[in-house]
Formats: sequence, structure tokens, C-alpha cells
Amino acid sequence: MEGLARLEYRGYDSAGLALIEGETDGGVASGVAVRKRSGKLANLKQLLQDSPMPESTTGIGHTRWATHGGPTDENAHPHYGGEDDRLALIHNGIIENFHSLKTSLLEQGVSFRSETDTEVAAHLVARAYDECKDLTEAMRRVVNDLEGAFTLLAVHADEPGVVVAARRNSPLVVGIGVGENFLGSDVAAFIGHTREALELANDQIVTITAEKAEVIGFDGTPTEGKAFHVDWDAAAAEKGGHSSFMEKEILEQPTAIASTLLGRTDAEGALVLDELRISEEQLRAVTKIVIVACGTAFYSGMTAKYAIEHWTRIPCEVELAHEFRYRDPVVDQHTLVVSISQSGETMDTLMAVKHARELGALTISICNTHGATIPRESDAVLYTHAGPEIAVASTKAFTAQITACYVLGLYLAQLRGGSYAEEAQQVMRELHEIPSKVETLLAGMDRVREIARFMADTRSVLFLGRHVGYPIALEGALKLKEIAYIHAEGFAAGELKHGPIALIEPGQPVFIVVPGPDTPHGLHGKVVSNIQEIRARGARTLVIAEEGDEDVVPFADEVIRVPQAPPLLEPLLTIVPLQVFAAELASAKGLDVDQPRNLAKSVTVE
Ligand code: G6P
Repeated sequence: MEGLARLEYRGYDSAGLALIEGETDGGVASGVAVRKRSGKLANLKQLLQDSPMPESTTGIGHTRWATHGGPTDENAHPHYGGEDDRLALIHNGIIENFHSLKTSLLEQGVSFRSETDTEVAAHLVARAYDECKDLTEAMRRVVNDLEGAFTLLAVHADEPGVVVAARRNSPLVVGIGVGENFLGSDVAAFIGHTREALELANDQIVTITAEKAEVIGFDGTPTEGKAFHVDWDAAAAEKGGHSSFMEKEILEQPTAIASTLLGRTDAEGALVLDELRISEEQLRAVTKIVIVACGTAFYSGMTAKYAIEHWTRIPCEVELAHEFRYRDPVVDQHTLVVSISQSGETMDTLMAVKHARELGALTISICNTHGATIPRESDAVLYTHAGPEIAVASTKAFTAQITACYVLGLYLAQLRGGSYAEEAQQVMRELHEIPSKVETLLAGMDRVREIARFMADTRSVLFLGRHVGYPIALEGALKLKEIAYIHAEGFAAGELKHGPIALIEPGQPVFIVVPGPDTPHGLHGKVVSNIQEIRARGARTLVIAEEGDEDVVPFADEVIRVPQAPPLLEPLLTIVPLQVFAAELASAKGLDVDQPRNLAKSVTVE
């Protein structure tokens, strides 16, 4: 239950457990007990109180984000396979050929208790077990017939003390303890028990007992997982006195940014990215960069584009991963495809990376999760060191992603030499000053919280920004949609007069992210004019502006101050009040800030 609680961010439509009961040493147990409930983990907890489970040392548990079959008790995992309820199975992902498999099982007289694709796998493994009497072999036979993405875990009463798991394109890590072993979608599941873990590759099966973890490929060949040590502890995945994980993670941003910068410069201030595993020659030969990502990670990429193109002079595109994958993008061996993903498991992003590799591109993953699939599937990885992010709405991962993209951009600039190589060291120095500026900013958020509480009944909020403030406007709007369920739109301020200004009516709240007065091309003045234009039409203007920027004052209903910073680094500051605003407003509405409806943090289906 503790492990499930740590994984609940991945999905919380329903939850369930299966435990082997009446375990005997190496013998046969009396059965497999299953308890499951729709809704959050609290519902399962209640069920366990009303109907306690047998004592056991072997079991599996699951929290669900519904794909096939609505979030009902019946569709919750685990699912029994076979008629005698001696096998139980859980599943993440989607089995794409489940329909034809189910039809054939139905023809053979198998009856189903749920509408899930998972139950099909459960019956198939149970039937294979009846033939071969070996759970690992039964799993192996079945996975070869499945299409799609899946992680499957099964227990069988005839093999007490054993859990067998298989993975293809869906996350699974092994936790190696002393006299106990674990499986989890990510290390958070077992971090309270061990920090030693094994990474599995795709198309591998692992069989664990308390003593050992044995890995084979889907073809049966024995192999080994890749051992790694988790460098954060259980406390990092706990709320630590904060009202929500999101609140805690917003406040952790100074550390997240600082840790992401740590160790990436040498004594002379030059960038060193030893971990990149792509040769300098290959990186020098890059003629185009494409950033692929989804959700908040996409907006971090949009922000990074401004900086990367400016510093490297390499054309940089940013595209939603699911769009990139299914069109006909122009990519070759001189294209560097940078994927950004907090979880490293987002299926849309993973598919884009695989596609890019097929097309011959170089791939770099910017990722926050060690042992995740996307970094494994990429030529190289640059980790953000934000620590575990639990709240569904991403905050510290976002600022860490921008930081990591900037580090990458500066590194490429340095490799290519030229005027921006020198600027790179200067920017790194300025980046190192950002954490303390975020700290100062966070200490002065009382007024933003007040405004948020005051606006709890608001139906619609608009966000305007220009240059790097534009993706920040989009991200600010996304935060509000995600957790406060308020209709929110972000616009490029220059686009205002081409449409969105028609939305302005008296009282309409609009956040404006104002570029600092030093921003080139007079953009500051242009955005100040935009504020005037919407104010004249009755908008309520909530202005995010640098300390000392007095030009905005006459046209602002509220001015939210951020510390001064070079224009390209401003997003690391201007996003903070918008995160605080969304979190405070959602909690003022009495909503679950960390687990918003319908969403999941890690979307491992396409
Ligand atoms: C989901 C989450 C978002 C997140 C996006 C990308 O949609 O709800 O908060 O930004 O996935 O996730 P990733 O793990 O790839 O950064």
C-alpha cells in the first residue's frame, strides 16, 4: 500500500492488490486473494479495513489510469486468469491485439469478468501455465503473442514466493533488497526499502523471489539487468509538512535548478558534458535541432528554442512529439533530436524518439528519471536533477528542463566556437545566480496567493507573453487548466490584435508576462502597449514585470515583481508566480492539487 501510494501519481482511477495466501515453503499455496476498488487508494484502504487480506510475503499491486473499460471495481486490477482463481495479473499499457485474442478465448468458452485488455493476458498466462507448469515460461509464451505496449506482473498460487514480470515499451524497474526484492513502475515504489535497482531492457522478463532476480529475453535467453543506485531517498518523495506535493515542488525550484547546473563546468568555467556519449565531431556536424515533447515539457522546449538558436545559430524546431511522429519530418544524420520528458516514459515522446532514430537522427534525452525508457532508447542523455516530482502538474521539472536545455545549447555554442562561445561562460555565470533569485521571488508570493484566493470563482483567465514570455504564458494557462479546471488560454502578445482581443470584455482577468526593459528590439515597449490596449477595453491586468520596471505601473491592476535577469533567463523566474497562482486557486476551490481529475503524470499509452 505504501508503494502504491508513492505511485498513485501515475493514475488513480482505481487500485487493487493480490496476495498469495496460505504460502508454504516451496510448496503450493491455498490461493490468491484479491481486493480492488475504483477511485483513489483511500477506497482500497477502506476495503482492506472492512475485509482484511491474509498475511503474505508475496503479492502485486496496481493503481490504474483507465484505457480499456471504465474505472469500475470489476475493471480494476489485479485480474484473475483461469477458472480457479489461482493466478492474478496486473498490467500497464495497452494490448493492441486484445480484441482478436479475446474473441478466440470467448470461442473457447472462457468467460470474462471485466472489459479490460488485461484480463485477456491473465487468461492467456493461466492457460499457458496449465500446460507448462512454470510461471516464467507461461509468461514468455504469452508475451510473444501480444502486440502493443505492456508491463505485466503475475503471481500463481502453485509458485508461492515468486513474481514474474515482463516489459515491452512500458516502465518496469527491479529493486534489489536484502532477503527481499521488488518490482515497480519506478523506483519511488520501493525507495523506502532499497536504493539499489536494476534497469530492464525492452522485451525482457524478470522472475523475482526474496533471494534473487533472474532476467531472460522474450526468446528465453538468460541475460542481466543493468544495476544502478538511486541517488535520492524516501524523504524526497514525501510531502514534508507541505499542504501538497505541488507546493513543495514549487518551493524546491532553487535546488532543482542549482542541481541541474551542478558539475557541468570545469575550473575555468567551460562546459563539460562528459555524460553525453555523442562525439564532439558528430555534435559539430549538426545542422538542425528538433525538440520533441508533450505538455509542460513541450513548453520548456519552446522556451529553449529562443536561446538555443540565439547561441548556436543552428535552426531549432520544437514540435509536439505525437505530431512529429506521424507526419513526414525532414530529419537526417545531421539532425539532433532532443526529447524532453520528466518521467522518461511518455509514450508519445518515446515513439517520436524511436522514429527519429529510424530516420538516422542523433537523439538526446533530457530526462528527470534514472532508468527510464526514453534515455535508454536515445543516443545520449542529459539528466535534470530536480529530484522526484510527484504532483501531476509539473513545476520544478519545468524549470530544470529549461536549465538543462540551456546547458545543452551553451555546450553546442562552445563546441562550435565563434562569438557565442565566450558568451556561453558569461551566461553560465548568470544561470548560477538564478537559484537565489527564485528563492527571493518565492519568499514574496503572499500577494499572488491573495489574488488567487480572491479569484476562486473566475471562469476564464487569459495569459499574454512575447518572446520567451510566450511559452510562459502558455505554461501558465496550462497549469490553471490542469489543476483548477478553469478555462485558460495563452497567447503571443503580438497576436492579440489578430483575434484574441475580441475576447476582452470588462473584468476579464489577463496575466501579462512583460519582457525586461533590456529585451532587444523594443519588445518591452510593445508589450506595455498591449497592456494599455486591453486595459482600455476593460481587462483586469495582472502584470508580471521586473523589479524597477515603472513603465507598466499606470496600466496594471496588479504588478507582480520578479528579480532582474538577462532576457533569456527570465522564464525561470516569470513562471514561478503563475505556478503559485494556479496551486493556490485550485486549493481555494477545494480541489485536489496533486491529483487533478482525468489526468495522469506519466502517460504511458499513445
Ligand atoms: C502528462 C502530464 C503533464 C506532463 C506531460 C509530459 O500529460 O499530465 O504534466 O507535462 O505528461 O510528461 P513527461 O513525463 O514526458 O515530461
